[in-house]
Amino acid sequence: MIIAIGNDHAGVALKNSIKEHLINKGYEVLDLGIQEGEKIDYPLMGEMVGKTVVEKKADLGIAICGTGIGISIGANKVNGVIAACCSEPYSAKLSRQHNNSNVLCFGARVVGDELAKMMVDEWLEAEFLGDRHARRVAIFKEIEERQK
Ligand code: RB5
Repeated sequence: MIIAIGNDHAGVALKNSIKEHLINKGYEVLDLGIQEGEKIDYPLMGEMVGKTVVEKKADLGIAICGTGIGISIGANKVNGVIAACCSEPYSAKLSRQHNNSNVLCFGARVVGDELAKMMVDEWLEAEFLGDRHARRVAIFKEIEERQK
């Protein structure tokens, strides 16, 4: 499984730590993020991670900024992206099971390394449950279509 990961300047250290964690777990990581000393506006990085997922260059995406909020809003502007900004593992897991999220976002100024790793693990191990959730998730697509 290929995981695209991206970060702005607030998320460099946490991105590096999550990247290492993913590699140790056997995932292939596509690092789109910036490095120490560089800067990027978080909506652009959210867009980059989101596009990489919807274009199927990666199976799922992880995006990190200071709060996780800005980068998740950027990612959610890409048609087909369902980005969830989380700060604890329960929501991260449910965002896969119920919302079929394909991008997980979090804030390096909000969560520490260990909590972030737990969220990532729960999220990657969870599967979309379909059924009643599929009808609701299909409405995301309908909303996108109404904007065209
Ligand atoms: C950057 O300083 C900060 O504003 C950004 O990382 C993020 O928190 C925005 O949502």
